[in-house]
Amino acid sequence: MKRDFLNLFDLSSDEHKALFHRARTLKEARKQRRVVNTMAGRTLIMIFEKASTRTRLSFEAAMAQLGGHAIDLSAANSQMARGEPLADTARVAGRYCDVVMMRTFGDERIAEFAKHCEAPVINGLTDGGHPVQILTDLFTIEERFGTVAGKTLAFIGDTASNMGRSFTEGAKLFDYQLKLASPKGYHPADDVVKLAPGHVHLVSDPREAAKDADVIITDVWTSMGQEAESKKRLADLAGYQVDAALMKLAKKDAIFLHCLPAHRGEEVMGDIIDGPQSAVWDEAENRLHVQKALIETVVQASDRLREMGPALKAARG
Ligand code: CP
Ligand code: NVA
Repeated sequence: MKRDFLNLFDLSSDEHKALFHRARTLKEARKQRRVVNTMAGRTLIMIFEKASTRTRLSFEAAMAQLGGHAIDLSAANSQMARGEPLADTARVAGRYCDVVMMRTFGDERIAEFAKHCEAPVINGLTDGGHPVQILTDLFTIEERFGTVAGKTLAFIGDTASNMGRSFTEGAKLFDYQLKLASPKGYHPADDVVKLAPGHVHLVSDPREAAKDADVIITDVWTSMGQEAESKKRLADLAGYQVDAALMKLAKKDAIFLHCLPAHRGEEVMGDIIDGPQSAVWDEAENRLHVQKALIETVVQASDRLREMGPALKAARG
């Protein structure tokens, strides 16, 4: 028995609040270079089937700073690339470690892995979501404004992406209004939008979304795995660039977020991402603090479930 974190719904609203509180404490501890070793003797296995800079660095640094150890298993250099079944890799990895972070393609792959892995699994990005990034983005918004509840977030561009989906999942849980501005064919599917009734608004005009927003967000126009469609995507999304004119429509104290990597001159202009309203470097740093709190949350919850296991089995008869 264990607690996975495959999407934002895997934690309750109260657990999200506790996680942000813990992340703030851990951020302060890091600032003061106070040692926190809640993961001493523990191991994280990181499985990458797609490229990464921030996710790899922040998870490994998080584990090391908590007194534990991280192993980076690049799928391309493992037996996975030679056809070993995912379930077998999951069974073996789960016996070596206390927690797994996986970055992969289809959501069915991470679900399959989690099903066969006895250690808790954290989603480090799939085609259908990037929940650790969205947790971090919401934490960053709270850091700037005190709360994310009641704020208006405008996501401009390819909102059908993993980022768009996870922001949609978060809207009701964290009680924010989400305006998704995309051309035809680039909005999330209806079943995704239905996850947050009354909180998500689909528009085609980026100016309508940006008007009076507290936060302006964008992401790359071609996500990992979509490279073959890149030319068409650039043409379709050309009118959805975040530039100074769009930022001006938002509230005066609005911030700009981008999970990175960014393409200056495509989805965002350089003067915005490098300008005074940009919070992207805090956003990137906060991956470290939020993920530390998340690792603690799933490992400690899984420990408790394991301890309670025999009693629960007995109670069920
Ligand atoms: N934002 C993010 O997940 O970055 P990487 O792809 O570099 O890990
Ligand atoms: N939507 C992007 C996010 C990168 C962190 C991608 O999947 O490539």
